[in-house]
Parts: sequence; C-alpha cells; structure tokens
Amino acid sequence: MQELKEHIDKQRLPHHVGVIMDGNGRWAQGKGKPRVFGHHSAVEAVRATVEACAELGVGYLTLYAFSTENWSRPEMEVGALMQLLVDTIGNEMKMMLDNGIRLATIGDTSGLPEATQQALRFGIEQTANGHGMTLILALNYSGKWDVARAARQLALEVSAGRLDPAAIDEGALSNRLSTHAYPDPELIIRTSGEHRLSNFFLWQAAYAEFYFSPVFWPEFRKPDLYAAIVDFQQRERRFGRTSEQLKQPTNP
Ligand code: IPE
Ligand code: IPE
Ligand code: MG
Repeated sequence: MQELKEHIDKQRLPHHVGVIMDGNGRWAQGKGKPRVFGHHSAVEAVRATVEACAELGVGYLTLYAFSTENWSRPEMEVGALMQLLVDTIGNEMKMMLDNGIRLATIGDTSGLPEATQQALRFGIEQTANGHGMTLILALNYSGKWDVARAARQLALEVSAGRLDPAAIDEGALSNRLSTHAYPDPELIIRTSGEHRLSNFFLWQAAYAEFYFSPVFWPEFRKPDLYAAIVDFQQRERRFGRTSEQLKQPTNP
C-alpha cells in the first residue's frame, strides 16, 4: 500500500474524482446475504475512499450514491439506503471534521425522505467551515436530469428577458448545472466490473479519464484508490491535440 502511494505525483492529482460505487448487492449475494448487507458494508469503502482522497489533497470527490433510476428498486431496499444515509452522516461526522471535509450534495434532494434531507442539511451545516476537500454526494441525481434542469433554467431566464438566446453557449449551460461551482471530474472510477456511466456526469465527463475496477464496492480500499490515481497519471490527456504538440514546451 505504501509503495503504490509513493508512486503518486502530488503535483498532478486529479482535481475532481467521481466514483460510481457499484456492486454492493452482488457482493452480498455472493456471500449468501441480503443486498442491504452489501449497502451497510459499503460504508467502510466510503470512509477509506474519502480519507484517502482528503489525505492526498484531492479537491473534490463526488460519490454517486443514488440515481434517479434507483427509485425503481424494491421499496425495502430504497428505505434501507435512505436510512443508511442518515446513520452514516451521523457516524462519520467526526471523520469529516477531522479531515477538514466540506459536505455538499447534487441532485434533487427535495425528493428524498424528510429524515434524509434533515441529516444532509445537518451534515452540510456542521462541515461548512471545512477547508479541505469538498465531498459531493450525488443523490436522486442523473446526468440527464442535470442537463434538462439547466436547459429549463436558461429558458426561464430568456423568457424573463434576463438572457439573450444568442448568448447561450457551452459556458452558459455549464454555469447552470448542479456542478457549476466545481471543476469537471478528471477521473471517474466505477467498481464491480461494469463499464457504463448509468446516467452519471453526462456533460461533465466530456474529457474525464475512466478507470474500471473489478472490485465490488464494499471491498474497495485505499490501495484501490491509489491504483486508480497512479493509472490516471500514466495517461496522456490530449484534449484533441497530437502527442507531439503536447511535448512542445509552448503547446502551440
Ligand atoms: C451500488 O451497488 C449501490 C447503489 C446503486 C445504491 P448496487 O446496489 O447497484 O449493487 P449491484 O450492482 O446490484 O451488485
Ligand atoms: C449506478 O449504479 C448508480 C449508483 C451507483 C448510484 P446502478 O447499479 O444503479 O447502475 P445500473 O443499473 O447497473 O446501470
Ligand atoms: Mg449496481
């Protein structure tokens, strides 16, 4: 573990890491346990990932915790996830404060149960003075929801006469996304061997590097996160240019 961590160049950390935490249910079922056992066990992975990112100096970590599509799951599972959020925010408060973390959410949190909303408000309030990493929980979130909401916001501003339609460009839309205050994710990790975005950061992922881990989320630990960052740092991010251009000192 120490060895992997030593391979990380602290000057070239991704500013924003997104994690699609996947595989809780299959991990539990593989052990002959109910799916919610997997969700409860996943808290350990959340803690390890949050701590590892905060210790390294990552600025923003977004955890995709509940998608707009996840409402289709059995009521009992949804209820357990919503309660788990309440419990985890309480139990992990000390860890967040110790690490200087500032909690935030993206997604339509008004659709969450009142107790969950309350716990989130409490967590955001208590950690508001954190000077370290911003931990963003994506809850009742989806990329399509985010883009549609930004489009609606633009339309409202146009019809109120506050925005010239000719001024609508990529920046204008980006500024109305739920992530407007954060840099785009540079690294997106998905666990459990699935290779898809499942309606996560559709717009924001335009130039993200993807890292797919076969590990089921409940077993994800600091060395897995370090491995993802080491891999990220070995990639050549060209942004449409050629490799040769990138090697020129002036980058014409
Ligand atoms: C991720 O694990 C947790 C959430 C999506 C809330 P899953 O519950 O999706 O686990 P699998 O993919 O069914 O194994
Ligand atoms: C994506 O996982 C959503 C979250 C991690 C919150 P899912 O398990 O819901 O995705 P699909 O259904 O396998 O694509
Ligand atoms: Mg899943």
